[in-house]
Amino acid sequence: MEVILKTLHYFSILFAGGVTVGSGVIQAAYIKAGEVPPPYIGKAFALLGYIGLGSIVTLWITGIGLAHLIYGGLAINGAFHAKLLGAAIVLFISAYANLHVYQAIKAKRPPNGALMKRLVQAGRVGLVLAIGGAAVAFST
Ligand code: HEM
Repeated sequence: MEVILKTLHYFSILFAGGVTVGSGVIQAAYIKAGEVPPPYIGKAFALLGYIGLGSIVTLWITGIGLAHLIYGGLAINGAFHAKLLGAAIVLFISAYANLHVYQAIKAKRPPNGALMKRLVQAGRVGLVLAIGGAAVAFST
């Protein structure tokens, strides 16, 4: 069971990171070119957002499972709590950004660029905290 949860946890890290880096690079290319993404690229961004949210939800499910299985609960150490704070930020930001994009698509208007930029920046801080926290929490 531990191996399955760990494998899913690591795949989710791969997908969450991939979505963050990939959409950031594509978005930056559009901004640099001074162009707005066409609707089919907008849909691809929305799909990336859903993949990101699915990944962070899977990280929580598998992470809670692993914490109980290996350490008997969530009270592991201080760095682990920093990691959880980072993971909570990523979950909140991802859910909020997806809701905003979904509502924008439904209303046939583009998402708020300034809001999205701030959300992406805050999501990055959460990811750094979660990964840095994991490195410290699980180092001997
Ligand atoms: C953005 C979210 C997250 C990221 C980037 C992340 C990252 C990582 C990384 C890199 C490891 C490997 C650490 C190692 O084995 O040395 C790990 C393991 C682990 N994570 Fe996460 N994680 C996230 C969310 C969570 C959550 C929400 C929980 C718990 C509620 C959690 C609990 C754990 C546990 C228990 C391990 C296994 C430690 C071990 O093998 O001894 N993670 N995580």
